[in-house]
Amino acid sequence: MNQKRVFITRRVPQKGLDLILGEPNLAVEVWPEAMPPDHETLLKKVPGLDGLYCLLTEKIDDELLDAAGPQLKVVSQMAVGVDNIDLAACTRRGIPVGHTPGVLTEATADLTLALLLGTARRLVPAAEAVKAGRWQTWEPLGYTGPDVYGSTVGLIGLGRIGLAVARRLAGFEVRLLYHNRRPSPEAAAVGALYVDLDTLLAESDFVSLHTPLTPETHHLINAARLRQMKPTATLINTARGGVVDQEALIEALRQGVIAYAGLDVTTPEPIPADHPLLSLPNALVLPHIGSASLPAREKMATMAAENLLAGLRGERLPHCVNPEVYTT
Ligand code: DGY
Repeated sequence: MNQKRVFITRRVPQKGLDLILGEPNLAVEVWPEAMPPDHETLLKKVPGLDGLYCLLTEKIDDELLDAAGPQLKVVSQMAVGVDNIDLAACTRRGIPVGHTPGVLTEATADLTLALLLGTARRLVPAAEAVKAGRWQTWEPLGYTGPDVYGSTVGLIGLGRIGLAVARRLAGFEVRLLYHNRRPSPEAAAVGALYVDLDTLLAESDFVSLHTPLTPETHHLINAARLRQMKPTATLINTARGGVVDQEALIEALRQGVIAYAGLDVTTPEPIPADHPLLSLPNALVLPHIGSASLPAREKMATMAAENLLAGLRGERLPHCVNPEVYTT
């Protein structure tokens, strides 16, 4: 019987790998390095593949799909965001694309709260001072920041992750504003008030981003929008780096246009150690770890494996980003 060929672009949690390795008649290659294969290497790996299991570090474009060939049946990404994949190019070729919605919602919402609290309470500079032996006394104004409790928080995007953040914030008795393409029927249950973007930016003490990166949301937070925020405000981004005009943000943080930023995502990723963003005392930058709880990563790996296997069998993917592929 003909073996189907699968390439997995990194070692993913074993639970996901086991599902794939347990399938008969699959020839599976797992990229063994800690660093992802670069585009040139990937171009050499994909010819003749039936299934590609990838991560958000890979660029899946026309060139790669052409190199793979017409037998490619499925692209399955171990992430919910798919802005690294040219979906239209996949759909044109009849290739369903899988992703992993839902299973990383709570982990990402937890990290959003960690950034909210960590920036407000200056956790990183305070901890660094202790380690460096700079803790000399109890300082009346040392490491002081704003309260999260009782503040106004503005969520841009009230999808799964935005709602999970809203639920957590209930305990902080915040005034919760949100902006979405359209009002959400679930907002009332979490006490979130729909406002236009201008109002949200002007009134929030914390602005937190929860939108996918699309042409519409690219640089949604630009210089003009940063100027609409309070000078005491904090910007939190656990979505995608491209939603923020990073050069404008750096300038805003330097000039005191806004007070602080907590970023789990940047442009580029990884951000070079000598990047100006990292020299700012009022920016806390993390290496895209929103979904990095072990249970979340295991569920992501498993869900991506299930999508891959369904695609190889010619079945509808349980979680397909481009369902139009089944009707066009
Ligand atoms: C996703 O799944 O899109 C997340 O950004 C990964 O952490």
